[in-house]
Amino acid sequence: MCGIVGYVGPREVRPLLFAGLEKLEYRGYDSAGISVLNGEQIDLIRAVGDLSFLRDAMAENSNGSAPPVVADGTGIGHTRWATHGLVTEANAHPHYSTNSRIHIAVNGIVENYVTLKESLVKDGSVFTSETDAEVIAHLIERHYNGDLTKAVRDAYQDLIGHYAFVAMSVDEPGVLVGARKECPLVVGRGEGEQFIGSAVPAFLKETKRVQYMNDDEIVVLRPDGVEFLTVDGEPLAREIDEVDWDADTAEKGGYETFMLKEIHEQADAVAETIGERAAAEDSIDLGDLGQISDHLLRNISRIVVVACGTSYHAGLVGRYAIEEWARVPVEVEIASEYRYRNPVVGPNDLVIGVSQSGETADTLAAMATARNAGASVLAITNIVGTRMTREADGVLFTRAGMEIGVAATKTFVTQVAAFYLLALRLAELRGALAPHDLSSRIAELKHLPHLMSEVLDAGTATIEKVADQVYKQNFFMYLGRNSSLPIALEGALKLKEISYIATDAYAAGEMKHGPIALLDESTPVVVVATNSPVLSKLISNIQEVRARGARVIAVATEGDTEIDAHADEIFRVPATNAMLSPLLAVIPLQLFAYFIAGHRGLNVDRPRNLAKTVTVE
Ligand code: G6P
Repeated sequence: MCGIVGYVGPREVRPLLFAGLEKLEYRGYDSAGISVLNGEQIDLIRAVGDLSFLRDAMAENSNGSAPPVVADGTGIGHTRWATHGLVTEANAHPHYSTNSRIHIAVNGIVENYVTLKESLVKDGSVFTSETDAEVIAHLIERHYNGDLTKAVRDAYQDLIGHYAFVAMSVDEPGVLVGARKECPLVVGRGEGEQFIGSAVPAFLKETKRVQYMNDDEIVVLRPDGVEFLTVDGEPLAREIDEVDWDADTAEKGGYETFMLKEIHEQADAVAETIGERAAAEDSIDLGDLGQISDHLLRNISRIVVVACGTSYHAGLVGRYAIEEWARVPVEVEIASEYRYRNPVVGPNDLVIGVSQSGETADTLAAMATARNAGASVLAITNIVGTRMTREADGVLFTRAGMEIGVAATKTFVTQVAAFYLLALRLAELRGALAPHDLSSRIAELKHLPHLMSEVLDAGTATIEKVADQVYKQNFFMYLGRNSSLPIALEGALKLKEISYIATDAYAAGEMKHGPIALLDESTPVVVVATNSPVLSKLISNIQEVRARGARVIAVATEGDTEIDAHADEIFRVPATNAMLSPLLAVIPLQLFAYFIAGHRGLNVDRPRNLAKTVTVE
């Protein structure tokens, strides 16, 4: 949550900071600001709203005088997702110390800020915001004795919580000091200039050479070099990695929105994720899973999946596949509940944390809870170098590429694909599927991206037509059974996230125990009715819905003519193994949500109140 960017070097700082913030806006976008060194002062420009407001404020600020070009260009920027304090200009970052000589941009939460603030106020600090983050600026000023690095190290020792921040001082042109505890911070290495940001896209246009920070580390950036230190000031070696992302992958590539582009990238993303892991006909190769050995996978007695949001839904699909194919019991848990529940978990369990960002605070905490109880911990994530990858015993990477749209789409389908791979590998190691069945499932899995392309290439006329008819409705019900239930949940989440329409999603068989009371003639009911062993049961549930006059929109398998009599509208997907059909069924529902939100004139890439990376609990 929140994006930080920083630059030291010879170039004009403002455009670089602004460009970096644009790439980080998915991390929060309720307000933004920059601080730029300008001779004997730091120019602070902040604005409430998305970055267009900051752009206007920057233009106003430089009216009459050209933006200063200083030899040692030094600046930091921030895009905010509010945690403490309302969305106001005063609460927007950067924040500054009482003498205005130290400015900071912070991501995360300072848990002991109340105590710190009391003591700082007693000592004469004057606060200008309601945020927890501002204490950091005052703490650095309190410790400052001509050495920003030392002051940041000392301030760091006073803080409790999880945060990453970057500080600058009027008295040290050409220096930025960053610190990291459980929130991301990455350095970008240039020639005679350096970058820092919450994520690589912040500076990807400028450099692909990156250095990752670990927790409890301090980093000092100067135009001619970067130093990594422990909080005690001991120097640390740090290799430079080259990222292979193309800056263009972060652009929209001809699509109207990132979300639409990313929906259309899903077949490739799944193909990439399956890739060489399913190269053999009769075996899955998951590559290096660290300490998650074949021996361990053969012997675990239970799997517990912990995740949030859309990743949780991927875990639900995973449960059906693992239990069906590998016969290992699976529980799927909402991470924010699991972490505080004193769960029964131990050395015989494999706990899988699923997170596209690899930084979700609740999922990380749930994984830590399990690890502390002796469980082995596997991460399924999309981003290399994130905290999750460092703290798990093994990592199964999804290969979705960069996802910018806040509502997860291609990361979801790759997570589901990762679960299919794992389920088949477990089945193989444990002999749970006969060799012939294993080979058939592998072949079907490899064919899946092709079928996904068919869904994507089929055109969206029907989906758009139905969206056009129903977009003014204020409530939608989603139903599914068996492996289509998680897709009903995910379809409903997509619609509410980006269109702000109330939705409910239910196991179809459970509907008669309450939710059916919500239905009347005006309620659109979306039913995920792809081929499954319980399709006839689901059709009975559809009849219960129709008896209340509700309008049924079904996602169904091509060639299934029985459904024609039971649904008002049908989105067709190709036939495949029932366990794999979730990856086809989800696509029309993503598009359905997309077109409804579009009709409502909403910004689908940046829905209100949400953020792509949720580093707060
Ligand atoms: C946020 C995002 C969702 C995502 C959830 C979990 O709410 O908006 O799209 O599903 O976080 O994030 P993770 O990175 O752990 O998958």
